[in-house]
Amino acid sequence: MNKGLFITFEGADGSGKTTQLNLIKNFLEEKGFEVVVTREPGALDLGKKIREILLHYDGVVADRCELFLFLADRAQHVETFIKPNIEQGKIVLCDRHTDSTVAYQGYGRGQDVKLLKDLNKLAVNNLTPDLTLLFDVSTEVAQQRVGNEKDRMEAIGLEFHKKVRNGYLELQKENPERIKLINANNSIETVFEDTKNIIINLIEEK
Ligand code: TYD
Repeated sequence: MNKGLFITFEGADGSGKTTQLNLIKNFLEEKGFEVVVTREPGALDLGKKIREILLHYDGVVADRCELFLFLADRAQHVETFIKPNIEQGKIVLCDRHTDSTVAYQGYGRGQDVKLLKDLNKLAVNNLTPDLTLLFDVSTEVAQQRVGNEKDRMEAIGLEFHKKVRNGYLELQKENPERIKLINANNSIETVFEDTKNIIINLIEEK
């Protein structure tokens, strides 16, 4: 493996993807890989300001404003952080990326899915994840895990989150090579085994 890898972690709020991302980080580092952990929205300084609006602004945020804020964060993140790290040979693990926009703003909010895919392309400037892990969990379980302290996106409601879940599943069917489905209703240990096996396969292929 002489070039880095780009692996994205996707799924509902409460799917457990961030826990798995951290377990995978430790696992890969023990194997001697250089790993970088990042997330969208809001990994970097400018992005943190965008994240603050997206998750905590208490006025009205128009759907298209929300969309462009997620895309603006992504464009900056890809250009100044993700691409340089991949080029340096690192494994970049990213908590949410393009599929979140299609699932949440497209399937969830009801904006034009095809258009969002094109806007994503513009934002990432020819970067596609080598692998995307989709942590799928029933919406009821996910909402229970999130609890009562909800941010602006988490507070939208059950129907919205069901549409997001279906959107993710649709994306997985369209891209079975890139997006691997993981049953995240299972225990942390079982989900970790499944995740690890998929990543080992990817590394062996490279
Ligand atoms: P975050 O606290 O990072 O949630 P999580 O730990 O579940 O990833 O919040 C990000 C929220 O923003 C989450 O509800 C999903 C949403 N989101 C979108 O709606 N569109 C996007 O493009 C991205 C990246 C995130």
